[in-house]
Amino acid sequence: MVINWYPGHMARARKQITQQLKLIDAVIEVLDARIPYSSRNPDISSLIRGKHHIIALNKADLSDCIITDSWIETFKKKFGVKAAPVDAVKGNGIKNLLEFLDEVRNGVSEKRKSKGMLPRPVRVMVLGIPNVGKSKLINRIAGINKVKVENKPGVTRSLSWIRLKNDIELMDTPGLLWPKQNDENVGINLALTGTIRPDIVNMYELSLHLINKLQKIKPEIFKERYGIDICSEAELIFNRIADRRGCLLKGGEVDYDRTSRLILMDFQSGKLGKISLEKPEWFIK
Ligand code: G4P
Repeated sequence: MVINWYPGHMARARKQITQQLKLIDAVIEVLDARIPYSSRNPDISSLIRGKHHIIALNKADLSDCIITDSWIETFKKKFGVKAAPVDAVKGNGIKNLLEFLDEVRNGVSEKRKSKGMLPRPVRVMVLGIPNVGKSKLINRIAGINKVKVENKPGVTRSLSWIRLKNDIELMDTPGLLWPKQNDENVGINLALTGTIRPDIVNMYELSLHLINKLQKIKPEIFKERYGIDICSEAELIFNRIADRRGCLLKGGEVDYDRTSRLILMDFQSGKLGKISLEKPEWFIK
């Protein structure tokens, strides 16, 4: 599974983010709720050190709510970071994020006051790897809260800000981070969720990976969705799905391409139900 981020791209992105973060009080880190570990940038903690940190577990409409809640608990208990489930398409969960931002703003204002400084708006940036839903999230937050968009004097011209209610300003372009490299399981999970589209993907192999994962996470799904009895071999399950769904070539041979696409699309579109591919206890002790 090839993740297409080169050292040069990463260095450029890191430089840009580091510069922009100088203007920022708080970061909303966007993760895919189905794969919070795989969709995290590996250097996030060091990149945003000293900033207020909030996590949006986005695409929560597609993740298992119980597992998403346990991620939220884990982020709070182990790292002291507040997280909320979000569906940036429908706008669910945005209110929680705004409440977290209100708390940040109060803290920042108190601190400035104690130093004899005047209050000022709290500046927020949305960060995350490609396709986790950063733009959708910004549009959602802006859509219901925007007061006006203004250019800030003295700040890089290319940056503009969305002024929210309650003295909060959101940078209107998200920070693009790179995914973890050199971890095959991360690459597989990013490809399965459609978060990355690797250059060379063997769809058949990818769907076998999915079948193996589903056998561990939700084995009953094969009966429920495709009406097939569970068996141990992923290849056999694949062939039975092909048979059940009529994904066959002339002569009755399995159409590997069509079957793979069907299984992957069923998962990505939520037709297999709300499924999380990662549980916190697998990664965080
Ligand atoms: P990015 O800025 O982080 O790169 O991500 P972006 O907002 O462009 O979203 C990437 C894809 O994920 C989009 O789908 C978007 O609709 C989808 N998406 C974002 N948030 C959510 C969510 O909470 N739930 C679900 N189910 N999907 C979400 P697309 O097919 O690439 O484009 P389009 O559907 O917007 O045309």
